[in-house]
Amino acid sequence: MKYVKLGSTGLDVSAICLGTMSFGGGGNHTWGYDEEASRPFLKQAVEAGINFFDTANIYSVGKSEEIVGRALKDFAKRDEIVLATKLHGRMRPGPNGGGLSRKAIMTEIDRSLVRLETDYVDLYQIHRWDYETPIEETLEALHDVVKAGKARYIGASSMYAWQFSKALYLAEKHGWTRFVTMQNHYNLIYREEEREMLPLCADQGIGVIPWSPLARGRLTRDWDTATARSDTDEFGKLLYVDSDRTVVERVGEVAAERGVPRAQVALAWFGGKPGVAAPIIGATKPEHIDDAIASLDLELTPAEVARLEEPYAPHVTVGFR
Ligand SMILES: NC(=O)c1ccc[n+]([C@@H]2O[C@H](COP(=O)([O-])OP(=O)(O)OC[C@H]3O[C@@H](n4cnc5c(N)ncnc54)[C@H](OP(=O)(O)O)[C@@H]3O)[C@@H](O)[C@H]2O)c1
Repeated sequence: MKYVKLGSTGLDVSAICLGTMSFGGGGNHTWGYDEEASRPFLKQAVEAGINFFDTANIYSVGKSEEIVGRALKDFAKRDEIVLATKLHGRMRPGPNGGGLSRKAIMTEIDRSLVRLETDYVDLYQIHRWDYETPIEETLEALHDVVKAGKARYIGASSMYAWQFSKALYLAEKHGWTRFVTMQNHYNLIYREEEREMLPLCADQGIGVIPWSPLARGRLTRDWDTATARSDTDEFGKLLYVDSDRTVVERVGEVAAERGVPRAQVALAWFGGKPGVAAPIIGATKPEHIDDAIASLDLELTPAEVARLEEPYAPHVTVGFR
């Protein structure tokens, strides 16, 4: 396994992060797996040297955190893994059931720690921007979570670059803990982040940890091929457009020439992207983890990268709310 520093921190993470949104099988993710089916993936990842795991309170409304917490307790040593979770999504109906208010943050970190069966998370991330809470309130509360020893680092997820820039500036101004990571939507068929967010992250030493790096499976197979997940992944249906088909075909061509699965090519493409620390992959079959790890040894030539990137057509930005 290859390990990298997470952004400008001293933290060592595997260059592949295992996403756990598919573990839990409830809430928005009906295509996900129950605990029994999920645990082998976590075991396989640990045994392969993956030390970086990403979950969120909202994944299957807490079930993913419970599954991850129990499994990692059984299969790994706490100090050897880097555990990341997120908050923002609505966990229950009614007032203060979601968002990034001080109250929500203090409640949700404690609930996540209980579900994860740990005293601290390594990376506590805001899942989205909260348009109804002053960012200063959010930042100070996150700082207090860190000072209370409940999180080692803080990170952010999909938002506009101006928002992230403002948050970094305000943290510095007030002496609060700074975000060290950006978990954003970035892959061969969604590259809007190259305009503003990625240059900002490079300039500020932020570790980029892209979500859905395989475009939720789209980059791994023919455009018209459906799977149990793709049929029911409602959010995923909003993200990609027909013009992406040509990029997907190019991935297929390069993979065929190299004699490797397409997923390896699509993940190897991140190898040349400055600031990208570790793609957060999703796995619904054991070989998905194997391919992700194998992609770290696949170096694409500049000509191959150009061929993969050339047909890209700009997208309307989605997924910021
Ligand atoms: N911050 C956010 O807002 C946000 C949003 C989304 C996700 N995330 C994080 O990112 C993680 C990954 O998201 P994702 O599952 O959408 O990522 P992804 O890696 O883009 O997609 C995973 C899907 O790709 C297919 N796949 C993966 N490896 C493959 C291989 N080697 N060969 C063939 N098919 C392969 C599978 O599809 P099938 O199951 O259809 O076969 C799998 O379910 C999540 O678990 C979560 O931690 C965060």
